[in-house]
Amino acid sequence: MSKQSQTARKTVKDIAAAKGGTPLVCLTAYDAPTAALLDPHADVLLVGDSVGMVVHGLPSTVGVTMEMMILHGQAVMRGSQQAFVVVDMPFGSYETNADQAFLNAARIMKETGCQAVKIESGAYAAHQISHLVERGVPVMGHVGLRPQAINVEGGFRAKGRTVSERDRVVAEARAAADAGAFAIVIEGVAEDLAAEITAEVSCPTIGIGASAACDGQILVTHDMLGLFDWTPKFVRQYADLASVVSGAAAAYAEDVRTRRFPGKTETYSLRKPEA
Ligand code: KIV
Repeated sequence: MSKQSQTARKTVKDIAAAKGGTPLVCLTAYDAPTAALLDPHADVLLVGDSVGMVVHGLPSTVGVTMEMMILHGQAVMRGSQQAFVVVDMPFGSYETNADQAFLNAARIMKETGCQAVKIESGAYAAHQISHLVERGVPVMGHVGLRPQAINVEGGFRAKGRTVSERDRVVAEARAAADAGAFAIVIEGVAEDLAAEITAEVSCPTIGIGASAACDGQILVTHDMLGLFDWTPKFVRQYADLASVVSGAAAAYAEDVRTRRFPGKTETYSLRKPEA
């Protein structure tokens, strides 16, 4: 029996039961070794389509493909044991209609073994969400700032600052929850709006740049680890890995150029002949 099948992962029921309780700890993960380090500490690992920007250097998440999400989803599943793993549905993989959404969601679930998918849920997506949930695919919604809509919005902008926009975000969250989403990410909104949505919907809300009023928090792991020189206002950096990595690379370069690396202990020598 594989290690995977011996250990119990958190389930959708565990995540849903966190409503109003101890905040859910969620982080993004894109590869197996990082997933293994995060896994003991996280309730949810999200294989976010932010992978396109964070790992592949794309200018937005629009260029992310199904193949990328599946490859990174497989790696995170291999590296983790107990966290609930959610894989983002990339731009263009679910918007056309409910059948397209189901075929792509089913492919993600079959090929990665993840437990749920996430959809950036404008009001139209309620139909997709209920269609997936009825067919056995747990869905996490995502409202507020929706990065896949960057080309309509003209940039990454906090949401809900006007009355009409505010009403729209509340309606989108309500629609996702009514359609059966087991949790909803709220991104880039002011505290009072996050609080209103959290009070309104029966599933847990997970905030990113959406205050402590949510039922859980998520950060992009690379932001939280300090791997980038710029991060949004809402990020708290828990490490300065950029300095650690560039310091290590500089020390290695110096050692190679001055022939201090490899040394005796890092070099194979002939075995002594057997007596
Ligand atoms: O793609 C992603 O990483 C996300 C989180 C920021 C919520 O959607």
